[in-house]
Amino acid sequence: MLIAHLSDPHLCPEGQLYQSVLDTTPRFAEALEQAATFSPDLLILSGDLTEHGDAESYARARELLAGFPAPILAIPGNHDDREGFRMGLSGLPNLIPLPTSGPLHSAADGPIRVIGFDVTVPGDHHGLVTPDHAAWLDATLSAAPDRPTLVMMHQPPYATGISFIDEFRCFGEDLLAEVLSRHPQVIRLLAGHVHRFMLTSFAGRPALTAPAIATSLALRLDPGAEPASFTEPAAFLLHHWRDGQLVSHLQVSGKYPGPHPFF
Ligand SMILES: [Fe+2]
Repeated sequence: MLIAHLSDPHLCPEGQLYQSVLDTTPRFAEALEQAATFSPDLLILSGDLTEHGDAESYARARELLAGFPAPILAIPGNHDDREGFRMGLSGLPNLIPLPTSGPLHSAADGPIRVIGFDVTVPGDHHGLVTPDHAAWLDATLSAAPDRPTLVMMHQPPYATGISFIDEFRCFGEDLLAEVLSRHPQVIRLLAGHVHRFMLTSFAGRPALTAPAIATSLALRLDPGAEPASFTEPAAFLLHHWRDGQLVSHLQVSGKYPGPHPFF
């Protein structure tokens, strides 16, 4: 099973540049096109589909995603609007259905199960695992205790060392760790939000953040460093389940010289 994982496209209305520097729509289109060439079984989107949560940007997202040749599991990010996301993506034929009210949790079944765990807090930039969230996750994980499972959220539940983004991480991590302690089938935690690839562990599981389709957050590890971004190439992840092992690949998006012979 192959899972394409794209994050943080931050689509904007026509004619608007993301943070005044980047037209994100063609970058998202190009990354989707490239991801499709791998013939993935599932596309997962870890949030910030749009920059402003407006209807026009969701319409653009729907147009780009409609032709994707695999089911899509999507969660919102802090830049999305919960109801705008729900309404904007409704009618996408290949979308794993979203609940009609409340947080936008969902789950995709397959040899690998993926759970979209919506920890966003409407109107805020940090995430939060509430007792309700934890109960939903516990019940959802209990429904398939033997299936290798990935839990995907927007804000990571750990500090990254980039102080600016750590103020807006997902809190309530103790509740999450407690749920995970009852579910050893969770083999990875996936997140977006940070606009950089990053690998660590959380509650004893590998935990990673996906790179962004939009600009990359500058790697500034000094406490209190001023946040900044770079227009690095967009990139995405491919999670490949094969012979009982999950390998997560990072793929830079775009066209580069090659393929060259390699020896
Ligand atoms: Fe983002």
